[in-house]
Amino acid sequence: QAAIEVDGQRLDLKYVPATEGASGLEISKLLGSLGVITLDSGFTNTGSTTSAITYIDGDAGILRYRGYPIEQLAEKSTFAEVSYLLINGELPTADQLNTFTSRIKRHTMLHEDLKRFFDGFPRDAHPMPVLSSAVSALSTFYQDSLDPFNQEQVELSTVRLLAKLPTVAAYAYKKSVGQPYLYPDNSLGLVENFLRMSFGFPAEPYEVNPVLAKALDQLLILHADHEQNCSTSTVRLVGSSHANLFASVSAGINSLFGPLHGGANQAVLEMLEKIDREGLDIKEFVTRVKNREPGVRLMGFGHRVYKNYDPRAALVKKTADQVLTELGVNDRLLDLAKQLEEIALSDDYFIERKLYPNVDFYTGLIYKAMGFPTRMFTVLFALGRLPGWIAQWREMIQDPSTKIGRPRQVYTGYTERDYVDL
Ligand code: MLT
Repeated sequence: QAAIEVDGQRLDLKYVPATEGASGLEISKLLGSLGVITLDSGFTNTGSTTSAITYIDGDAGILRYRGYPIEQLAEKSTFAEVSYLLINGELPTADQLNTFTSRIKRHTMLHEDLKRFFDGFPRDAHPMPVLSSAVSALSTFYQDSLDPFNQEQVELSTVRLLAKLPTVAAYAYKKSVGQPYLYPDNSLGLVENFLRMSFGFPAEPYEVNPVLAKALDQLLILHADHEQNCSTSTVRLVGSSHANLFASVSAGINSLFGPLHGGANQAVLEMLEKIDREGLDIKEFVTRVKNREPGVRLMGFGHRVYKNYDPRAALVKKTADQVLTELGVNDRLLDLAKQLEEIALSDDYFIERKLYPNVDFYTGLIYKAMGFPTRMFTVLFALGRLPGWIAQWREMIQDPSTKIGRPRQVYTGYTERDYVDL
């Protein structure tokens, strides 16, 4: 018999031998193998899941994909390589990468009927529901790759999704700003192609800025997976009913749309804009946060899992500096964000509560500088998260012990009532 502490609560591990002295990872593996469902304020309604894709040590601020530290992947790899790694478990050789990217390039076009599908949405449609609808609609266009238990079909739907999501995302953006769509240019890389389809115009040359393309590629890597977050568990849950990959990922996109998940960087930007617009003093703002004044919150700080600096935030901060320098933008909001971070991190209030900047703190500033409107922020998140969703769906489907998902319910209502005519 042993006990662990979860979110400050003691949890007795009855009938579990010898967990004392075990590492967090060992304990989490053991709990997962037992199919333990934890029920506490932090993880209410979450069944534990075993996975070999992404490892996070929130106390140490460590994030690894398939064992590789995120810092190394962000520096040395491309998003295409990381996608391959997450989905297949190994980094690709040069030949494997070439085959993978060539296959993807063959599938970047959208069926003309699917292209017309975009015309049916209102002129001011938010690109995120357009994205999820179009991904769901892929099930109707590609009926030859829907069987989750046919490996060839899974490979085909994986490649189709990786290839088409950037095109769908760019079309959803063009639709939202009332501009004409561009066909993909397959002589370009994945990120370059997406930038051109988003910001270019038909029959006009478009010069891709390599610094921006590299920065966006890196941001996609940093968002590529984050173990059992809300959208990923949605993808797994929907997929556990044997819904096909397109349907499951479409559900994940809708889950990411929520302001508490993908929309958090928009909230950071709005907070910075408000501070700037109203000329608020940063120290005073931080004091008001500490006093818990209604409506005054430090957005982009703290994370359910990280009790340390979110390793992604440190990398995003560096990228923000590079992008703004490249574009010659002197953004007051970036200065404000840095000041906020400095003041907060030297304040006991934040230190004791282990509140550090998370991945959302600087990303909105970069996307804005690149020219993306706030409505595109979650779409960019979805582009990055796609390989993680695919990898997690495939891992779940391939595990013969997977049952249909069904979070445990603790009933809190009446047990029995007499019927009364009103
Ligand atoms: C994510 O990247 O999905 C977010 O940090 C949220 C989470 O991990 O729960």
